[in-house]
Amino acid sequence: MTATTTTATMSPKFLFLLGSLFLFAGIQVRAQDEEGADGIDANAEELCQDRPGDEYFRLNVEGDCRDVVRCTKSGLKQITCPSGLAFDLDKQTCDWKGKVTNCDKLESKSMYRPGVSYEEHHLIDFPDDVILRSEVESLVPAPLTIFVHKLGEVKVEVTVVVDAKWPQPRKVLPILRTDEPVCPEGKLSCGNGECVDKELFCNGKPDCKDESDENACTVETDPNRAPDCDPTQCVLPDCYCSADGTRIPGNIEPTQVPQMITITFNGAVNVDNIDLYEEIFNGQRQNPNGCQIRGTFFVSHKYTNYSAVQDLHRRGHEIAVFSLTHKDDPQYWTQGTYDDWLAEMAGARLIIERFANITDGSIIGMRAPYLRVGGNKQFEMMADQFFVYDASITASLGRVPIWPYTLYFRMPHKCNGNGGNCPSRSHPVWEMVMNELDRRDDPTFDESLPGCHMVDSCSNIQTGEQFARLLRHNFNRHFNSNRAPLGLHFHASWLKSKKEYREELIKFIEEMLARSDVYFVTMVQVIKWMQTPTELSGLRDFQDWKETCDEKGQPYCSLPNACPLTTRELPGETLRLFTCMECPNYYPWLLDPTGDGFTANK
Ligand SMILES: *[C@@H]1O[C@H](CO)[C@@H](O)[C@H](O)[C@H]1NC(C)=O
Ligand SMILES: *[C@@H]1O[C@H](CO)[C@@H](O)[C@H](O)[C@H]1NC(C)=O
Repeated sequence: MTATTTTATMSPKFLFLLGSLFLFAGIQVRAQDEEGADGIDANAEELCQDRPGDEYFRLNVEGDCRDVVRCTKSGLKQITCPSGLAFDLDKQTCDWKGKVTNCDKLESKSMYRPGVSYEEHHLIDFPDDVILRSEVESLVPAPLTIFVHKLGEVKVEVTVVVDAKWPQPRKVLPILRTDEPVCPEGKLSCGNGECVDKELFCNGKPDCKDESDENACTVETDPNRAPDCDPTQCVLPDCYCSADGTRIPGNIEPTQVPQMITITFNGAVNVDNIDLYEEIFNGQRQNPNGCQIRGTFFVSHKYTNYSAVQDLHRRGHEIAVFSLTHKDDPQYWTQGTYDDWLAEMAGARLIIERFANITDGSIIGMRAPYLRVGGNKQFEMMADQFFVYDASITASLGRVPIWPYTLYFRMPHKCNGNGGNCPSRSHPVWEMVMNELDRRDDPTFDESLPGCHMVDSCSNIQTGEQFARLLRHNFNRHFNSNRAPLGLHFHASWLKSKKEYREELIKFIEEMLARSDVYFVTMVQVIKWMQTPTELSGLRDFQDWKETCDEKGQPYCSLPNACPLTTRELPGETLRLFTCMECPNYYPWLLDPTGDGFTANK
């Protein structure tokens, strides 16, 4: 026998022995820990050292395999599976007894803790084979290393060194799929077998004693998740979905679809960027229907010049919200409560409406800071507050880009980034999905570089020339496939960082406008087109795009008020609020978005 012998030629006996070795390994380690144990609680401290609080394990292997404990601040807490079920250590949940293969173990082998290495010695009989080290190693899962010390005809001593790099144990999961129902109708089983109303699963607050009802809440696992797209139920103008998200609304031939391009900016509008916006949207650049090109501005509150926002709106651009505080803590957004999202987004809209005097109800879109979507909470708030669309969810770079969709049905692509917190439930909200851009410098060369959602996150773009290629390559990707809207999402500071970026963007816009099938439009204009899909040939007279065709009137004021303001919420800061409207008493902030002043016990 040579070292190249494959595992397929190993004797079944050997495989069996190795299998039992690993079953045995778990017991070895714990048995040592248990030495000298008197009562459960006396030993709890030792048992719980370095052990995560959400991990269930057994204290002994006697009995019917239903009892497990976990570590809590007040000692060990025991749960018992319902009769007929047993606790599966690897899955960390109760399961049908016949399916649980680890009743003879005290803890899952995935419970080896990272950074701790265990060494175990076992003698195994191998009566008829000579075992080569390479053969043994090829049988063992990666984190385990085996050293064969002695090769002999009869016995092999094996040292198992577990250099624990296993992932952290999983949280306890509810039992959502069982052959026979565990709970009465309308209820589902928690990880410990307790039955809880289905609606209480994934509602943001633990209802199971083991808290497992909040541990499987992704777009794929939430028991109350939105159903898959059903095109017979989901019809325009209010609902749009397709199985893989790439279908063109109205089944229009790709060649008859206008290539819409949405230029968007995130952040405060002020002296740092007003000139850039003037330069891009200079009033001289027209779409094929004779209306000027338009952009969408996701405005954050602090440092924003509301007189400038008012002027952008007057000139037909779309104003949307990007939060009130833009707090520099991604977790704040991912874990934000309903009230956080309400104060941040509805609050920011109120401020814009008041201080930019936008009274036409046109602020209906939002984007989450850091694109940290807030799950169902964010979208529940949006529905209640009549926000029509979100523009924060990203779709990873695919062969064919994705069209915007409504969230009545399940989103048609994986939750990619966004802190993993995409909405799982059904919401009456449009998702203006951000298709990642292909940033490969030489698209003919098929290296696998992940895409980027904001243009400035395409970190490999360093020169104007590279930026120019990025724009054209991605335009072609959309234009030559399903013509899903091409989103060009910027932070103004990136475009301002290099003159050549600005020049290339403007060159690209002008090149596109020389064609007859490309339109630079706002998010709302995209939705309007999707609601009434109209072929290129009829687009010159498309009324919904004519509404913002003309600028409205003159600038409201030539010299805005520069109100120096403070608020109790930002102690020690004096901020200037620029507005054509009257100065408020205080700088508008979370608890006081109108700046009228507030009382603590309101
Ligand atoms: C605020 O915006 C208005 C309108 O664009 C502009 O006239 C004014 O100079 C701006 N103020 C500051 C301080 O940027
Ligand atoms: C605010 O807008 C409304 C409606 O467009 C207008 O009637 C009113 O005069 C504006 N107020 C100010 C102070 O500009």
